[in-house]
Amino acid sequence: MKDKLAIAVLISGRGSNLQALIDAANHNDFPARISVVISNVPEVFGLERARKAGIPALVVNHKDFSTRAAFEDALMLALRPYSVDLICLAGFMRILTPHFIQHWPQRIVNIHPSLLPLYKGTDTHARALADGQREAGCTVHYVVPEVDSGALIVQARVPILPDDTPQTLADRVLAQEHILYPQAIAQIAPGLLKALEVRR
Ligand code: GRF
Repeated sequence: MKDKLAIAVLISGRGSNLQALIDAANHNDFPARISVVISNVPEVFGLERARKAGIPALVVNHKDFSTRAAFEDALMLALRPYSVDLICLAGFMRILTPHFIQHWPQRIVNIHPSLLPLYKGTDTHARALADGQREAGCTVHYVVPEVDSGALIVQARVPILPDDTPQTLADRVLAQEHILYPQAIAQIAPGLLKALEVRR
């Protein structure tokens, strides 16, 4: 049986979650290796992180395509040579359509900065504060066509403190994201590796 998943990480920005995955994958006992990093935005810091780690870092700029389907076709073409088993979205700011997702059933995961199903979409921390929540957190979940709605894999919780701003809360949640994402991959890897073995 294959002992490590080949993963692709899709990013759009600074890539701190990507970095957490790179660091985790540097440990021999982590059940995944990062085969490729793709950004839909050129020149973002996450691409530098990948290159520094010796990982192929590509740009598929959504602005170069007139339709979502054409962008996603280009993404699939870019992924093909890497034979990836799992796609990890890490701050990837494009909505993927069924056109793409159907090629990777239960094979795309995302990290979201809220305790889903609460606060899907953007500005999660400001909305949690405005609602007077006492707790916030982050979620790793499978990706389905409805945004931030797939089955949950794991969550981490943090307290909301009386003087929190969206930024201080985001920082506290982000620290948990960096722990949670590698944990989630380690958790789903054995089942996925087994399923891939059966399919071969
Ligand atoms: C993270 O908060 C992640 O949960 C959200 O976008 C942010 C990306 O940050 N989806 P980074 O690029 O991983 O630093």
